[in-house]
Amino acid sequence: METTKVKLSELRIHPLVLKIKKYQPNPFITFSMKHFPKKTAVIVVLRDGIYYIIDGGHRYYSAIEAGNFESLDCIVLDITDSEILDTRITYNLKTKVHMSEKCFNIEHILGLIGTNQGKRNDLLGMDKLNDENEFGTAGKNRFEIACMQSGLNFSSRTLRKLMGVYDYEKTDNSLGLIEGIDDGTYKIDTAYKLMLSSIEKDDKKAVKQKIKIEALNKDVWFKVFEQSSVDLSNLKKYRPQFGMLSPTYWTMKEYRNQGEMKYGQEDTLKEYLDNSRKFIEALIDIMDENGVFVIVIGESYAGGYKSIITQYEMMILETGVEIIGKCPWIKSNSTPVMVKDFFRTVDETIFVCKMKGAKVNFNPLMKTTKEGKKMVKKSHKAKDGTNRFFIQSDETIVSNVIVTPVVNDSEYKKYDPDFTHDAPAPMAVYQQFVESYTLPGMTCIDIHCGTGQGLEVFARNGCNAIGVDIDPVSVEFCNKRMNMVLGERTESELQQAA
Ligand SMILES: C[S@@+](CC[C@H](N)C(=O)[O-])C[C@H]1O[C@@H](n2cnc3c(N)ncnc32)[C@H](O)[C@@H]1O
Repeated sequence: METTKVKLSELRIHPLVLKIKKYQPNPFITFSMKHFPKKTAVIVVLRDGIYYIIDGGHRYYSAIEAGNFESLDCIVLDITDSEILDTRITYNLKTKVHMSEKCFNIEHILGLIGTNQGKRNDLLGMDKLNDENEFGTAGKNRFEIACMQSGLNFSSRTLRKLMGVYDYEKTDNSLGLIEGIDDGTYKIDTAYKLMLSSIEKDDKKAVKQKIKIEALNKDVWFKVFEQSSVDLSNLKKYRPQFGMLSPTYWTMKEYRNQGEMKYGQEDTLKEYLDNSRKFIEALIDIMDENGVFVIVIGESYAGGYKSIITQYEMMILETGVEIIGKCPWIKSNSTPVMVKDFFRTVDETIFVCKMKGAKVNFNPLMKTTKEGKKMVKKSHKAKDGTNRFFIQSDETIVSNVIVTPVVNDSEYKKYDPDFTHDAPAPMAVYQQFVESYTLPGMTCIDIHCGTGQGLEVFARNGCNAIGVDIDPVSVEFCNKRMNMVLGERTESELQQAA
């Protein structure tokens, strides 16, 4: 609409407006009029040569107080007195100040404008976001003044939360939290909690990325031992933090060079479980006190179902370790032996165990969500019917159900096409656990290392690798393989450095 410049001396507040609104001096508006002259026009009606303000009274008084205004831009409306109050409401609605604009104004009051990020963080106390009583170097007082001056009817604590969200959205506004506060979707407290959760998720993601980069650059070593894993006492000094057992299953396959024990060929299930226990106890004896180890075990259906997994689980508990959880492992393309009166059996079981009382390092393998971006989602309504929200990251923890094809021979054949092994496990299975439970620089052990699938995964995750197997052919192959893997790493590192 067209604006007219009207001298301050020709302006008055309309008496009808004065009846409903008391104008208090507003130092903030005066300050901003002085330093950032308002472009928004004042709404007036003309009566007998005098312009009567129906909306914009604060700007009028502040212009007088600021002392550097002769006139104000005005929109002159041709309306009757009976229309004045209704029109004022319409203008008020139209000029409702967006929450982000309010925040911008508050930044002035708190002295945030023009300060660098470090100073801003200090002023807002951003480093102590979880502390409700923290008001940064700005101090509680300044927050209280800011609340009062900007006409926001809430506590300084709430204002600090609001400013925390506002500041956060300067670097990441993908969640639209200030917008949501403005349109009433979120209370300030809700938006603030969502922000905290978002920061936490971002931090976790950053940690994970840092680990991956560190893994690539870590210097690692490997050692392979040709011996029975029933006694690992010679390896005590290594104190591995992560261990893997993928033992021979009972009566399933006959491997070469299996020594006297002939593990897996025992006459009775009890003997097999007793032998299995010896391996687990030998491992427990050398593990770090916060160690985690993973056991891959399959059911045997020879002569009918034997509840091996159930009994195995009981046996694990008897050794004194704690079971963190159990993963079904489904082989998507397996060709199993058919069991009488039963379906195709394509699953195996993986137990994740920890030393008693261990403090576990868990940075789980993640997968991209179907939405593929971080977002606010609605959860179930609260008891009082109000909406509740949560942050869904762009990634989520993979499930405990592992689905892989059976091993692709090329994973190990590329190191020697003539080498054969009866039961290698896919590297993807190792990767899920190694990535989730280790950090670069840790030492990992596979006490039935076979083809060395696990050893390669350990090294590729920046961990030192120890392999043990009773079969000399497998041990020789693992040595060859790991020399090639680490040689390859060194070569690519050299290329990166050049
Ligand atoms: C199921 S395979 C493990 C395969 C391995 N996970 C891989 O991906 O190649 C079992 C391995 O245990 C080894 N083994 C059997 N008895 C053993 C014993 N007493 N001590 C150490 N290793 C043994 C076998 O030689 C075989 O390589």
